[in-house]
Amino acid sequence: MSDEFEAAIESRKQEHLWYAQGDVEAHTSAGWSDIELVHQAVPEIDFESIDLSTEFLGRTLKAPLVLPGMTGGHTDAIEINVNLARAAERYGLAMGVGSQRAALRAPALAGTYAVARDEAPNAFLMANIGAPQLIQQGEEDPVSESDVDELISMIDADALAVHFNWLEELVQPEGNRNAVGCIDALAHVVKYLGARTPVVAKETGAGLSREAADQLVAARVAALDVGGKGGTSFAAVEGQRAAARGDSLRAKLGEVYRDWGLPTPVSIIAAASTGVPIIATGGIRSGLDAAKALALGASLVGVARPMLQAAIKGENALAAVIETYLTELATGMFLTGSATVADLRGSPRAVLGTTAQRLQALGLPTDIAGSR
Ligand SMILES: Cc1cc2nc3c(=O)[nH]c(=O)nc-3n(C[C@H](O)[C@H](O)[C@H](O)COP(=O)(O)O)c2cc1C
Repeated sequence: MSDEFEAAIESRKQEHLWYAQGDVEAHTSAGWSDIELVHQAVPEIDFESIDLSTEFLGRTLKAPLVLPGMTGGHTDAIEINVNLARAAERYGLAMGVGSQRAALRAPALAGTYAVARDEAPNAFLMANIGAPQLIQQGEEDPVSESDVDELISMIDADALAVHFNWLEELVQPEGNRNAVGCIDALAHVVKYLGARTPVVAKETGAGLSREAADQLVAARVAALDVGGKGGTSFAAVEGQRAAARGDSLRAKLGEVYRDWGLPTPVSIIAAASTGVPIIATGGIRSGLDAAKALALGASLVGVARPMLQAAIKGENALAAVIETYLTELATGMFLTGSATVADLRGSPRAVLGTTAQRLQALGLPTDIAGSR
C-alpha cells in the first residue's frame, strides 16, 4: 500500500474530528419525544440505591453506556482516546476505538489505538474495522485472518465491531462503493474468531431494518449496534469535506441524504426482534433518551459525538457529561419505578406520533412483547 494512501487515511480521520465539531447532525430528530415512559407516582425506591450495572456479552458494566468507536490513526487521536479510556475505566463503561484500518497499513499508528487499553486495563474494549474492508476494494486487498488477529491484539479487545457505513462511503469522495460479498466475509470473520472474540455489527447513523438485522444475526454476530438516524449524519460530514474540495456533486449528495436512514428508536425495535443484545447509538442526547432506548429493549446505549466533543475539551469536561447522562438516566429509572436496568427494560411506555406511524408502515410492533 502506498505512502500516499496511508497519509490520506490519516488526514481523513483528522478531518472527521474537525467536521464532527460543526453542524453535522441530522435535521430530523430520532423521535425520542414520541416515546413516553410512564410516570410512577409511587416508586418505592431509594434514589441512592438505583443500580445502573448491567451485563453485556458475559461482562458486567457499571452503567449501560458505551463510548462508541470514533478515533485513532493520527497523533491528535491519542489524547482523545486517552481521555475516553480513562473515563471508561473510571465509570466502568464500554468503549470502542475508531476504524483501525490505518494501523493495519501503517503499524507505527498502532499506538494511537493501543493507548485505550493502557488507560483502561479493565474496561470492555471494542476493536473496529469497516465492512467495506472485508472485501476487495479496487487495489486494496481485503482484511486477512492475521489482520483480524492484529486488530484484536492491538488493544487486547473484548469484542470486534464491524461497521456498515455505506451512506458515508457513497458520499465520501474517495469512498469504497462495492458491497458485494460483505455478509459472507463477515460470517467468515465470525467463524474464524469462534468463541475467542464476539463480533458486534454496527451501523454509523443510518440505522438497521429488521431485514438487515436478520442478515447480520444469520452471520452469527453476537450483538448489534443499530447506529440509527437522528444524531451525527455522515452524509453531512462527507458532504462538507467534499464541498471543501470543490466536489459539488458529492457536496450536494451529502445534503440530499443528510436525513437518510431509520431513526434509532425504530431501529431498536426492528433489531430487538432478533434476540441478540442491542446497543442503541445515534442521537442519544440525554440520559432520558438513554432511558427510553433501554425501555424499548436496548442492552446498552452509545453516545458518540457529544462524548467526542467533551473528550476534546479534556478529562474533566468528559466526566461532567458522563455524570449528567448517568444522573438523567437514574432519574428516569426512579420516576418509572425501575430499581435496576432490567426493571427499566420491562417498564411500560407509549409509542406515539410519527414513530408509531413509521413502525406500523414497516410492519413492526410498537411493543417489544408483540415482536417475534
Ligand atoms: C468523528 C467521528 C468518527 C467516527 N468514526 C467511526 C469509526 O471509525 N468506526 C465506527 O464504527 N463508527 C464511527 N463513528 C460513528 C459512531 O460510532 C456513531 O455510530 C455515530 O456517530 C452515531 O452516534 P452519535 O449520533 O451519538 O454521534 C464515528 C463518529 C464520529 C462522530
